[in-house]
Amino acid sequence: MQRVTLPAKAIPKRWYNIAADLPVEFPEYSQTEEGKQLENLPKIFSSGVLEQEMSQKRYITIPKKVRKLYKKIGRPSPLYRAKGLEDHLDTPAKIFYKREDLSPTGSHKLNSALAQAYYAKKDKAEMLTTETGAGQWGSALALACNMMDIDCRVYMVQVSYQQKPYRKAVMQLYNGEIIPSPSDKTEYGRKVLAKDPDHPGSLGIAISEAIEDALKDEKTYYSLGSVLNHVMLHQTVIGLEMKKQLSLIDAEPDIMVGCVGGGSNLAGSIFPFVKDQLDGNINCKFIAAEPNSCPTLTQGEYRYDHGDTAGMTPLIKMYTLGHDFVPPSVHAGGLRYHGMSPLVALLAHEKIIEARTVTQTEIFETGKIFADVEGVIPAPESCHAIKVGMDEAIKCRREKEEKNIIITLSGHGLLDLQGYDDYLEGKLS
Ligand SMILES: Cc1ncc(COP(=O)(O)O)c(C=O)c1O
Repeated sequence: MQRVTLPAKAIPKRWYNIAADLPVEFPEYSQTEEGKQLENLPKIFSSGVLEQEMSQKRYITIPKKVRKLYKKIGRPSPLYRAKGLEDHLDTPAKIFYKREDLSPTGSHKLNSALAQAYYAKKDKAEMLTTETGAGQWGSALALACNMMDIDCRVYMVQVSYQQKPYRKAVMQLYNGEIIPSPSDKTEYGRKVLAKDPDHPGSLGIAISEAIEDALKDEKTYYSLGSVLNHVMLHQTVIGLEMKKQLSLIDAEPDIMVGCVGGGSNLAGSIFPFVKDQLDGNINCKFIAAEPNSCPTLTQGEYRYDHGDTAGMTPLIKMYTLGHDFVPPSVHAGGLRYHGMSPLVALLAHEKIIEARTVTQTEIFETGKIFADVEGVIPAPESCHAIKVGMDEAIKCRREKEEKNIIITLSGHGLLDLQGYDDYLEGKLS
């Protein structure tokens, strides 16, 4: 068996909300006295996602329209056996990867973009603003807004805007408006540029710019591509599908790996299995893979911090490198984020999720091997997960263990070829 597919009718009917099953209480969001960030939430988010953000309901129905669009973008996504990689590593482990790279925009991000655009439209919003790092989230939201017939404005981190010029074309093809961040379009952007006109940008700054737009216009909502609870919720279609796929081949996960920026592809993949683990039904190791240049889970502090640089989001208890941290300009732009999903952070703090770091050279070496033996060119972000999965498979070889390793392939690398080219030419630091 090389590939486990599911029919369209197997697209989950409900998202799974781990807030109902946490081992400890979820730390409530808070605000600063002058910022009033909690009071601003209804001004920037649709009522649908805000309700989900705070919900304690274990399962939340996926609207019919969203399920229909999930079908249109090719869900359920297949689960592949990485036989080529197993042979290459000479491991007794079985390695599987979930193909989120096969969506029209090339990553898992559409799973939440479609839901967020749906709820915004339901509230009669006319525009969604957002940030994007690598461009995967911006592309997904531009397409989702186009499908829902609302406008989309994307603040794209300056350094990624330069590294991945064709992402701009993708967003424009879906009628999205792209603005490199920091920009002179917002008060906060101008403030950053006044201090440093060559600022490379960061996700935290781009978020502040997009929120500022939403606060200024009541027909404009803000949309976040990761971190918040409702985004983790929407992404659980990945894990819920995987559960069906693994049960079809009578397999249980021993190790599950995902890369983490704000935590959504990892959360979406593992949360339905974390429930099984907490219920005592499986014994699985959950691993978050992050860049050594932005080591939020491995070196950040577990404390309250803002999700953006200007301090416009509520205070969220998470692992953080500090909201003014500007990560080095690595190619894995989607992982250059100072904070983390508070749900992923809580589970990491409870030692239910462990974290590992990967270097930039390792990720491109990994991408080269994966392209060679599996035929798929992974996004630099996803290479973090593949690398950790490979390390685990090598450990299985040493210890002669036949474990099932499940990797989430969060995106393809076909618009990341500048990074791959630099690697092949020996120009990467
Ligand atoms: C391909 C890909 N994987 C992973 C991520 C990280 O986001 P998250 O941790 O929310 O899955 C991104 C973010 O842009 C991405 O583009």
